[in-house]
Amino acid sequence: MSQQPPRSGDDIRAAYLRFFEERGHMHLPSASLVPAGDPTLLLTSAGMVPFKPFYAGDETPPRTRVTTVQKCFRTTDIDEVGDRTHHTFFEMLGNFSFGDYFKREAVHWAWEFCTGVLGLAPERLWVTVHHSDDEARAIWRDEVGVPNERIISLGDRDNFWGPAGDEGACGPSSEIHFDRGEEHGPGTVPGDDTTRYIEIWNLVFPQFYQSKDGSRGPLPATGIDTGMGLERITAIMQGVGSAYETDLLRPIVAKVEELSGHAYGRDEETDFALRVVTEHARAASFLIGDGVVPSNEGRGYVLRRIVRRGIRFARKLGMEGRFYAPVAEVVIAKMGERYPELAQGRAFILRTLEAEEERFAEAIGLGMPVLEGFLAQGAQVAGRDAFLLYDTYGFPLELTQEVARERGLSVDVEGFAAEMEAQRERGRAAARFGGGRDVARAYEALGAGDSVFLGYDALEADPVVVGILTGEDFDTPADAVGAGEEADVVLDRTPFYAEGGGQVGDTGVIACAAGEGVVSDTQRPVGGFIAHRVRVVRGRLEVGAEVRASVDAERRLDIARNHTATHLLHGVLREVLGSHVRQAGSLVAPERLRFDFTHVSGVSREEQSRIEALVNERVRADHALTKREEAQREAVARGALAFFGERYGETVRTVQIGPDDAAVSFELCGGTHLDRTGQIGAFRLTGESSVGTGIRRIEAVTGRGADAWVDQRLAWLDEAAAALRAAPAEVPARIGALAAQAEEARRLSAAQARQSARQGAEALLAQAAEVAGVQVIAASTEAPSIEGLREVAGWLKDKLGTGVVALGAVLDGKPQLVVMVSDDLVARGIRAGDVVKAAAPAMGGGGGGRPQMAQAGGREPGKLPAALEAAVDAVRQKAG
Ligand code: SER
Repeated sequence: MSQQPPRSGDDIRAAYLRFFEERGHMHLPSASLVPAGDPTLLLTSAGMVPFKPFYAGDETPPRTRVTTVQKCFRTTDIDEVGDRTHHTFFEMLGNFSFGDYFKREAVHWAWEFCTGVLGLAPERLWVTVHHSDDEARAIWRDEVGVPNERIISLGDRDNFWGPAGDEGACGPSSEIHFDRGEEHGPGTVPGDDTTRYIEIWNLVFPQFYQSKDGSRGPLPATGIDTGMGLERITAIMQGVGSAYETDLLRPIVAKVEELSGHAYGRDEETDFALRVVTEHARAASFLIGDGVVPSNEGRGYVLRRIVRRGIRFARKLGMEGRFYAPVAEVVIAKMGERYPELAQGRAFILRTLEAEEERFAEAIGLGMPVLEGFLAQGAQVAGRDAFLLYDTYGFPLELTQEVARERGLSVDVEGFAAEMEAQRERGRAAARFGGGRDVARAYEALGAGDSVFLGYDALEADPVVVGILTGEDFDTPADAVGAGEEADVVLDRTPFYAEGGGQVGDTGVIACAAGEGVVSDTQRPVGGFIAHRVRVVRGRLEVGAEVRASVDAERRLDIARNHTATHLLHGVLREVLGSHVRQAGSLVAPERLRFDFTHVSGVSREEQSRIEALVNERVRADHALTKREEAQREAVARGALAFFGERYGETVRTVQIGPDDAAVSFELCGGTHLDRTGQIGAFRLTGESSVGTGIRRIEAVTGRGADAWVDQRLAWLDEAAAALRAAPAEVPARIGALAAQAEEARRLSAAQARQSARQGAEALLAQAAEVAGVQVIAASTEAPSIEGLREVAGWLKDKLGTGVVALGAVLDGKPQLVVMVSDDLVARGIRAGDVVKAAAPAMGGGGGGRPQMAQAGGREPGKLPAALEAAVDAVRQKAG
């Protein structure tokens, strides 16, 4: 071995890639943590995930040998994170063969890399193989020269891998284990002891395709899929006990040490918490960098869970305030060069973390007393209650469990799961168009094939009715539907667009000689079926009838304007606000469009003007739209914007605006669009708002909608001008002048009010009477507010020098009383508080206050004079 083995994490990563590049592998960048086009998988959990279509034979790889460092996220171990070995996020080094080399090369190269490049001593390496895999054992033993007794046969649990998600490639595997030495444990062979023997590399030999039902068939492209955790191998190379002590994670730990004031390596409980915060801050930064935002569902919930778990452990370290942003800064500084999405998304990542910290603080503040209430009952926390905390207060179940555990109580987890399922069921039932099991069965029973969509090119067609569903839930098959009735009608082919991708369903007419129906909506209730919600207005429609299906063309064109404008808007937002902007939802209707996207702060007025101007510039440039059907991978490779949450098939439709070499937008989209942007006519941004943490919404109108919007505003301007008897151009100045006049009038009347209050007060001063040797003013006034009442009473008290003032007024129909006593009289035992307490009952109320000043409110305005009298009596008694 001529060269020194790599030691730093960065060097190990580079050495790995170089080694496999030298052996003909193409180095591909890490895919997103959000798996593209794989609805069966929440997050990318292994290096092979982006390559599932290559193994399945659905797509052609760019080369048959590939090497990557893939960002991975595993949700299964979240609750273990904090110990020395578990991680949610990690980097996986991998080499892959798609129908190219097989076991022999994979085994030889793995050995060569471990012993030759990393310089690991051969006698410290053990190997496991699947018990049925004689071939792998023979290669290790006879070709590589590993002693037979250090090759261990294990079963499916240890040596069979996959699939990732509900279906996909899988096969037997062979692992390399590293022996850390007997001081780490007594075990004699790997599999017995995972403290002494650490698995460092998994070589999978994908041979089967496992379907959703668990059955396995041959894999179209057998090959190789290997995975080595970078953090783990780095720990071994650096001779430390865990990844947290390697140069990959140590700087992040150091930041948490600094913020918490706790040093790592002194006490196991503290170390655990330090590791949780470190791991979750790093993992959360990467998730947000890939566009995941905290929510109560799916990936967003995984993110929320780890962020909140991190906060809980930070509190154990005594970190009360915000801490995620500074820790994430270290993650970004350390890894942002290698993973540009971190550097580009920096502001978004920090803001999202801060916002989630705030939300959690709020949730704790509101929900903790509720949880305390449940716990005070001293029994298991009911599933219903845990769900209430989750649903209403955003308490992750794990938090409720943890707090309960601290009190020696448990949570009914099954009951919680049942509540969750019940809520999902309610959500499904609320869906307008079927989707339930009965509906699915009803569609199956039609025996018809998928509906063919003709609407990209045609707005009219002559299809055949293949199914009619009637009944309240539109799940009862019928042969015909008559005048006055409503039904879902399925055609073999249709020009009607079914709601999808944010675009609303088409409306129009389905007619034949025997009858005619008006289509009010179009949806895809089940699989590939397109259903037209039809009200029959003449005769009847029958299964088997050939009909003419006509889409409302004008409405469709309005929709297309808004859809194409949505794409322009999306492109412009990424230009003006930054490439972190991702679509988070959209609505494309005939009269308006709505676009939700990830962004940290409000979009300023200036930004809004620029966005509007840029979109309109692109409208006027009259760019042509090009729509293509192409392989998803190629489209994404050419830069098409693809967003998570979408289920893209292997062939996708792409919509490009502008020429190939200077496109202003390029997206995967199944919607219907214009031919040229000029058809949009005009684009007006009508609203900007927040719809959740890190998500903004823009609303806009186009074409006829934009005209109507502008017309409405001009009409309002004309009305205002007419009311002002001014020209429209003078309206702003005239309104300014009117506002100034109104302000002046307000000022004058306030001055008058003060003046008359002063006069009234002087009149009151003249009414001062002696009661048992004390000067007393007791009177009803016209004071406009309680403050006014106090002001006058204070003024009177000062004027008197020594005395008691009791002033009343009826405010909002309720009698109010203010009593003030000068200090010398307080010293003589006359307290304002006592006076109001004695007086208030007379007007049906109560009150209190300090000795110098007190206040009372009552219910019977007519009794105010009686209360004043009672106040005077009270003074008489005290003074006497
Ligand atoms: N897919 C295997 C794993 O994740 C090897 O890369 O362990």
